[in-house]
Amino acid sequence: MTTPSRPPVRPANPCFSSGPCAKRPGWSLAALEAAYLGRSHRSKGGKAKLADVIGRSRALLGLPEDWRLGIVPASDTGAIEMAMWSLLGERGVDMLAWESFGEQWITDVRKQLKLADVRALTADYGKLPNLPDVDPTRDIVFAWNGTTSGVVVPDDGWLDEARSGLVLCDATSAAFAYDLPWSKLDVVTWSWQKVLGGEAQHGMLALSPRAVARLESWSPPWPLPKLFRITKGGKLIDGIFVGETINTPSMLAVEDALDGLRWAEAIGGLPALIGRAKANLAAIERWVTATPWVDFLAEEKRYRSHTSVCLKVVDSQFASLPGDQRAAVAKRLATLVEQEGAGFDIGAYRDAPPGLRLWAGATVETADLEALFPWLDWAWASVAEQLRAA
Ligand SMILES: Cc1ncc(COP(=O)(O)O)c(C=O)c1O
Repeated sequence: MTTPSRPPVRPANPCFSSGPCAKRPGWSLAALEAAYLGRSHRSKGGKAKLADVIGRSRALLGLPEDWRLGIVPASDTGAIEMAMWSLLGERGVDMLAWESFGEQWITDVRKQLKLADVRALTADYGKLPNLPDVDPTRDIVFAWNGTTSGVVVPDDGWLDEARSGLVLCDATSAAFAYDLPWSKLDVVTWSWQKVLGGEAQHGMLALSPRAVARLESWSPPWPLPKLFRITKGGKLIDGIFVGETINTPSMLAVEDALDGLRWAEAIGGLPALIGRAKANLAAIERWVTATPWVDFLAEEKRYRSHTSVCLKVVDSQFASLPGDQRAAVAKRLATLVEQEGAGFDIGAYRDAPPGLRLWAGATVETADLEALFPWLDWAWASVAEQLRAA
């Protein structure tokens, strides 16, 4: 048995997790020195920091003037659930799912909200549902990028500007990485720890005027905990959208979010962020093309994500193993790389088919991905050797 030799170089930053994602290049704790610590978030200075996050996010994303943007509790889950709990039920809803998070939102509306009129448009890992099947007279809920399958919607042609329902978009692994078509969306949510690599726990909730109109004209029949309440007496609580958060935020995380936003501005804004992610995907594509044992989980190139890139092992020896052994082998692959300090958190999501997932968002350097690939090849050679010997 010949043990393959270790590659000579490791990525300078071996962080490839899909959340919390890599910090921006050059980040250190010094970036947080101006944090507003030990002070009330409701003081003038505290509110100014929170408003700064909102203002810079709006500008970077090109949010239309008449949209609201607020900081809410509980990360992206908090933001999307707050939206679903507050807005849905007025009419039927089309729920789209092609991986774990979309599935979870279906569970929410069926088993928790117990909505009567729910259509689920679903597809297996690696595929997309037939997007034009959505009905623009109904509400629509979907994740722009399926983080756990690496499948992203390829365009917005299937969304209708002249809709009568609302479109709720979980964009947590798409915001700051894709140009979102605001005129075709009504609710967009994301978190701080994804594309800009901020610290976690706060969600962002963006609302179109149509979403606000629904909030002010529709009262869901179920109870809403304080954490989810964005209206009072039938009116939107304006304060939430200028930095008066529902509950206490972490001012350390706020400072880190500001650091990420300033970095994004300095490198050239949204086009530069998108460009970095695309360059990262292109590097992965070059390696996959040259590597016989691996392929993309996304079946079609047009819907391959350039943030959460999911890969499957296509080696015939691997394919002939029973399911639980395939999962164990894929895990071993990721563990070997991690033990060498060459790549952290690169295993597929727990509910996804066994394989690898590499974050390719803007904070990841292409050179680090390129330094990772020889380690993946090395780990696969080691694992394949063991399989042959078994
Ligand atoms: C598409 C999608 N939705 C929701 C979530 C949950 O996000 P959070 O942990 O910020 O609540 C994730 C996390 O990866 C995600 O990828």
